Amino acid sequence: MANVPAESAARRVSQCRPAPADGRRTCASARTRRAAGALALAALALAAGGCSVKGGDNPNLILGKQAFVAKCGSCHTLARASTKGIVGPNLDEAFHQALAEGEGRSTIRGVVEMQIKNPNPEGAMPKDLVSGSLARDVAEYVEQSASKPGKDTGLLASAVPAPGAGKPAVEKAGKLEIDANPEGQLAYQASSASASAGPVTLTMANMSGVTHNIALEAGAGGANAKGTAIAASSFICKGSTSINVTLKPGTYTYFCQVPGHRAAGMYGTLTVK
Ligand code: HEC
Repeated sequence: MANVPAESAARRVSQCRPAPADGRRTCASARTRRAAGALALAALALAAGGCSVKGGDNPNLILGKQAFVAKCGSCHTLARASTKGIVGPNLDEAFHQALAEGEGRSTIRGVVEMQIKNPNPEGAMPKDLVSGSLARDVAEYVEQSASKPGKDTGLLASAVPAPGAGKPAVEKAGKLEIDANPEGQLAYQASSASASAGPVTLTMANMSGVTHNIALEAGAGGANAKGTAIAASSFICKGSTSINVTLKPGTYTYFCQVPGHRAAGMYGTLTVK
């Protein structure tokens, strides 16, 4: 598996569990599979079947969601986790077909755990981003969330704060701080900022493990503008970086130059008066 190039999750799932000859899948065979697993697996399978009333308050899922956002979301889109990374496959789409073909959700967990341990060595995904019980929690969260309409409920809904919902950033005495989301989401804490014209030191703290920078261009460009940056900081994680700019009155866009981050929502509007 480790030497196999990128392939679809659907194919991998079907490799793990070959479809029966008649193409049908009965409840009885699903139950036999569960009984064959460890007790913990059986409990997970039950939760996956929606039998747990407090599914949204399951502490494993909460840890799994937080770790997914911090370690996986910068590269993968997963709607329920509100992550929008585009380096790796969209995980809702990746598992959609397998689920549509009648595979149980529990097969997703195996694919995710295997992928965490054995990503394509020539690909972009680092090995063992999470390990031990946290890897299981992440896999369980993906199992429960991939390609599932609707939103997370219970405590799970608030496990990771919404990105970009912070207070607008305001320049004071020539200093303006616009920080990256500390949980690793592709967003700045503030989606708008204001400053007075003149020299400004723009600082971005990025406490997450995902690399970002902050760049500035003229105009209210939104997610996809292709203007030229008038200034750009260095790329950092777990630290802080600054740029010095002299601003004229007008509207600017600040954005991250890591490919895909701006398109995923990592930008905001700076108004200079
Ligand atoms: C730096 C980017 C990056 C990060 C971070 C990352 N992945 Fe990936 N992921 C990829 C790429 C690229 C692929 C395509 C296959 C490969 O390279 O192994 C992939 C493939 C996958 C697949 C297989 C999807 C399919 O269609 O077969 C799964 C599942 C997956 N990743 C889960 C995760 C999980 C869970 C995490 C966090 C623990 C994670 N990834 C973190 C880039 C990333």
